[in-house]
Amino acid sequence: MKTIELDLQHAVYFAEKEYEALKDTSVEALTTLNEGTGAGNDFLGWLHLPSETPEALVERINATAERLRENCDYVVCVGIGGSYLGAKAVNFALADSFADFYAPKPKEPKVLYAGQNIGEDYLAELKKLLEGKKFGIIVISKSGTTTEPAIAFRLLRDQLESQAGKEAAKNLIVAITDEKKGALRTMADQEGWETYVIPDNVGGRFSVLTPVGLLPIACAGHDIKKLLAGAKDMEAETAHPSPENPAQEYARLRNALYQSGKKIEILVNFDPKLQYFSEWWKQLYGESEGKDGKGIFPASVNFTTDLHSMGQWIQDGERTIFETVISVKKPALTHRIPMNASDLDGINYIADKRVDEVNKMAELGTLMAHEDGGVPNIRIEIPSLDEYSLGQLIYFFEIGCGISGYMLGVNPFNQPGVEAYKKNMFKLLKKPGY
Ligand code: PA5
Repeated sequence: MKTIELDLQHAVYFAEKEYEALKDTSVEALTTLNEGTGAGNDFLGWLHLPSETPEALVERINATAERLRENCDYVVCVGIGGSYLGAKAVNFALADSFADFYAPKPKEPKVLYAGQNIGEDYLAELKKLLEGKKFGIIVISKSGTTTEPAIAFRLLRDQLESQAGKEAAKNLIVAITDEKKGALRTMADQEGWETYVIPDNVGGRFSVLTPVGLLPIACAGHDIKKLLAGAKDMEAETAHPSPENPAQEYARLRNALYQSGKKIEILVNFDPKLQYFSEWWKQLYGESEGKDGKGIFPASVNFTTDLHSMGQWIQDGERTIFETVISVKKPALTHRIPMNASDLDGINYIADKRVDEVNKMAELGTLMAHEDGGVPNIRIEIPSLDEYSLGQLIYFFEIGCGISGYMLGVNPFNQPGVEAYKKNMFKLLKKPGY
């Protein structure tokens, strides 16, 4: 089932020459990816995750999620970067915008996050919220040695064990980590916690369709089978080189725009629920392409909110940007603007319209204005915000990233640059060996 619509007509003409010239390169990049002959080819496990994830693994994830949902009012996912952003993106997109303000209901725990920062207040406030509460922990770290989640996990585990008792806590902690190595693996094996494996050949930012993303998403009550089904259909749609392949065309056009001087790609949404999807996307593209002195800078804005803050820059600032807009065709709920007899606010002219009709006109008006202002606009439309469409979008951007990275001439699957801050921090903290 084809549901994502990619519209390039408002962008191609900005870099027509470069786009034409990159036709063969885009085909070669996808072929290299498929044949596993490019740089970083030991990290291509994500390529066939949607079609090759065993049914039994999905069932086990759902059973674990059910256990946590039955026994917890809060489930805290501990992880950072690729071990955090995918689950956060999907759960945020699918949740009621005000879910956090409702009390937890039986079997519907709140999914919270920790280990994605080193905020002392954040951790202290989280621990305060969890005081006397029934909670569980999903701790996620591929390396099993990352400092941020290690700190959060140590604090939360202590709290859980002292509140629930060490034996009961065993049933409430799930570790997702490497099959054999790392401190988290050692701890989990020693303590007897349930574990899931992050495959060796799947890097953090490509891991949302492994248990890393699937378990926290299932815990939040979402249908991971539908998520995988969307991804699987997109895997089939993007598998072969073709001018009809949307991921190949996206990768080709963004490289063409980059060559023509558009160095910044802004992922735009007109639905606030996509805010964290943009954060996931920024890591995917930023960590994959920003190396060797090259790479499009991935930025994001939430419209119309940011039209009132960043709109000026985008309309009128340095012409080095292009936009990729994710448009959701149909909201899940219906709400119309009421008529008002006095019309003092002057908006009776849109009374009786659905709120989304106004949003769509804002989107169209913005597209026209930005295009006039010299900003190429790539548009991706999804029918609705649900598991299936998100699965499609995730896989579309993953494979688009692999193709795009190879076109750029970098290894899209490593991240040597992220070690620099860690080395300095460890030295400053006098970690043994630094
Ligand atoms: O994409 C990546 O590799 C990183 O963002 C990692 O996911 C992140 O640093 C967390 O690493 P780990 O899962 O080993 O704790």
